[in-house]
Amino acid sequence: MTLYEVLLTRRSIRQFKAQPVSRNILEKLVNAARLAPSAANIQPLEFVVVDEEEVRGKIFSCLRWAAYIAPQGNPRPGHEPMAYIIILANTGIKEKGYEYDAGAAIENMILAAWDQGIGSCWLLSVERDKIQAVLEIPKTHRIDSVLALGYPDEEPAVEVMEDSVKYWKDSTGRLHVPKRKLEDIIHFNKF
Ligand SMILES: Cc1cc2nc3c(=O)[nH]c(=O)nc-3n(C[C@H](O)[C@H](O)[C@H](O)COP(=O)(O)O)c2cc1C
Repeated sequence: MTLYEVLLTRRSIRQFKAQPVSRNILEKLVNAARLAPSAANIQPLEFVVVDEEEVRGKIFSCLRWAAYIAPQGNPRPGHEPMAYIIILANTGIKEKGYEYDAGAAIENMILAAWDQGIGSCWLLSVERDKIQAVLEIPKTHRIDSVLALGYPDEEPAVEVMEDSVKYWKDSTGRLHVPKRKLEDIIHFNKF
């Protein structure tokens, strides 16, 4: 896939195959995050990689999936993510305003993952206090969000957005994701 094809075909994945994601790939993803743009190059982000089954189970119980269609969008039993990357802000390095950095780093990881055939879902709806305790993360480090990862076991389809932003599942269980039309969002030279 070209980079542009990676960008166009990426979708949030919430059903995964029971196939492990290698340490080598997980390290590559964090490396892609490490090299992302960072405001004033301050680099406040750090990462916890979770790939052990027992820890994965504990993290899974702290996540909220696909709010518009809950609980239909939850990973089905046996189709849970096979790895997580927890994105942390080291508040000793930067107290606030790290969200743009996090967005850039996370998108780097999402695209690098998809380039390797690995699907992901970026989750902000997470129980931070519980995850903080499970992973023994010190108070100096704030959980920004969680990236769930695994080989995809669904193929969501992009749709032209008509009157609602809400994604839906059809009778076969396929997820459809509406996106605004290019002509509705693009302006050349003046608004
Ligand atoms: C900042 C952010 C937070 C998100 N949080 C969640 C979440 O907590 N749970 C979830 O299932 N999906 C979450 N998503 C995924 C969105 O629902 C998804 O990106 C959106 O429906 C569009 O689908 P697409 O990613 O396939 O284009 C989040 C996405 C972003 C960018």
